[in-house]
Amino acid sequence: MREELRVGIVGCGRIADLQVLGYLAHPRCRVVAVCDLDAVRAGERARAWGAPRVYTELERLLADPEVDAVDILTPHHLHAEQAVAALEAGKHVSLQKPPTRTLAELDAVIAAAARTGRVLRVFENFMHYPPHRKAKELIDAGAIGTPISIRLKTAAGRLTDGWRVEASSQAWRMSREHCGGGPTTFDHGFHCYQMARHLIPAEVERVHAFIHWTRLGEDAFYDGPALISWCYAGDPPRMGSWEVIASLGMRVRSKYYVSDDRIEVHGSDGILWVNRCTGQLLDEPSVVLYRDGQTRGYHDLETDWADSFRLGGIDFVDALLSGRQPALDGAEARKTLAFALAAGRSAAEGREVTLAEVLAEAGR
Ligand SMILES: NC(=O)c1ccc[n+]([C@@H]2O[C@H](COP(=O)([O-])OP(=O)(O)OC[C@H]3O[C@@H](n4cnc5c(N)ncnc54)[C@H](O)[C@@H]3O)[C@@H](O)[C@H]2O)c1
Repeated sequence: MREELRVGIVGCGRIADLQVLGYLAHPRCRVVAVCDLDAVRAGERARAWGAPRVYTELERLLADPEVDAVDILTPHHLHAEQAVAALEAGKHVSLQKPPTRTLAELDAVIAAAARTGRVLRVFENFMHYPPHRKAKELIDAGAIGTPISIRLKTAAGRLTDGWRVEASSQAWRMSREHCGGGPTTFDHGFHCYQMARHLIPAEVERVHAFIHWTRLGEDAFYDGPALISWCYAGDPPRMGSWEVIASLGMRVRSKYYVSDDRIEVHGSDGILWVNRCTGQLLDEPSVVLYRDGQTRGYHDLETDWADSFRLGGIDFVDALLSGRQPALDGAEARKTLAFALAAGRSAAEGREVTLAEVLAEAGR
């Protein structure tokens, strides 16, 4: 077994501050290098994280023999090329969601991981958020019987609240070429599509979506309101929906983005709610279970959104040190990406889209 993992961070923008938490907390991990085109930003982060080496060119970080694994935190149009280069340089890779803009790009990354024998982990933090982990544990233990329906809601609030997000961090998300789809229904959506797949034990088969594009300014828009619905394959019949609401005058209490996500899962015998995630919208227990006429609140969970990053980082280190594949592997991430692409296509073309159709095109 390895003694320790030495990580290099690629992209020192907004999310890097949270992404690094697990690496800094793990007793057998060190952040040894950072890379960003912006030398000042890279230097500041290196000092804050105790990283001895700073690069402004990825090739130089990838040539550094002291780096075992890289965490890629750059805009989406760079993900495929950077991940393939890192894998070919012999590094393990954690790649922020959404992994790539297209299935073809993701297939190139998956092929590079297979070719080089290095680990690829697509990082989706909602899976590691303690209330979501609790919900998954309860569902798997049969707490609501057979899960048959899931409903997710994302509410964006007043943009002047929450943490400071640089204009540059928003700008690339407004470009389809750089982002790969809408900032909400594709970029943020990867979390919601993943939770829909994670909490209901069935494959998503068909998707129907309405997405309205709200203009916020000259080059700024919000892909909401939106209503995305889907059917799972097999029996019993199971359906899900995700609603995006632009409550742009509402204060969302949040240390992070001014957005909150809530989830309701119905089973044959009960109902489970997760009442918060990124923000702190409702003063209710983060997880509530209804079953047999009784309502039970779980009050004792860590609910800070940052914990999902810390725990996800720790999982990556533990997995690499012990030789197991951390979630999400490439194949699972590919299904979630196909789901996101099906939703975008459904809204654009005004028709139901099957995942089989999207996946078949990628295979051609
Ligand atoms: N899990 C989550 O909840 C979550 C939240 C926010 C962002 N993200 C993801 O994290 C990634 C980064 O998002 P962000 O909001 O931090 O973006 P950002 O724009 O704030 O930061 C990106 C950084 O990458 C740097 N960069 C650009 N090109 C580079 C290159 N060629 N080499 C090295 N550095 C380069 C930029 O200078 C910038 O500092 C995206 O994939 C995004 O979807 C995930």
